[in-house]
Amino acid sequence: MTLSIKKLLLLCTLLLVSDLVFSASSSSDNEMDMKPISIDVSDKKSLQRGARNFFNYCAGCHSLKYMRYGEIAEDLNISEEQLLNNLIFSNQTPQDIVTTNMSKADGDRWFGKAPPDLTLVTRRKNPDYVYQFLKSFFQG
Ligand code: HEC
Repeated sequence: MTLSIKKLLLLCTLLLVSDLVFSASSSSDNEMDMKPISIDVSDKKSLQRGARNFFNYCAGCHSLKYMRYGEIAEDLNISEEQLLNNLIFSNQTPQDIVTTNMSKADGDRWFGKAPPDLTLVTRRKNPDYVYQFLKSFFQG
């Protein structure tokens, strides 16, 4: 799994485990918290949680088309069975690349712009940018 994907998955971990998602905390109000985030790409547990979050929440719209499911499983230290039960919700196999069921045409029509492939997003834009982008959808 590329470093770029690891960073993306870790951001998904941070994003969805943070109390932001339950909107319990209002301490930061609407101010953007611009502190650089700290992520550890060798933290397997955190990567696993990020993958769970990604495949549950993001993969309906976003592909990771330069990755195969099997490569992700290998890097996360999970078995093929765990992969099939927890991360693949279609009839795809571990050998397949991570696509999404949404066609570009539908994405363009529904959102004005089809959701981009995220394989390289943390390389193209840095992890801090991506984290701030994701947090910008939460209401303070
Ligand atoms: C309902 C569909 C949908 C879901 C679910 C979704 N996204 Fe998106 N995402 C979009 C669309 C559409 C865009 C393009 C927005 C734009 O460019 O204005 C986008 C853009 C992005 C971008 C910006 C990419 C760039 O190049 O600037 C990132 C990063 C991103 N999404 C990450 C995620 C993550 C992580 C999740 C899961 C926590 C997620 N998205 C869930 C539809 C979705």
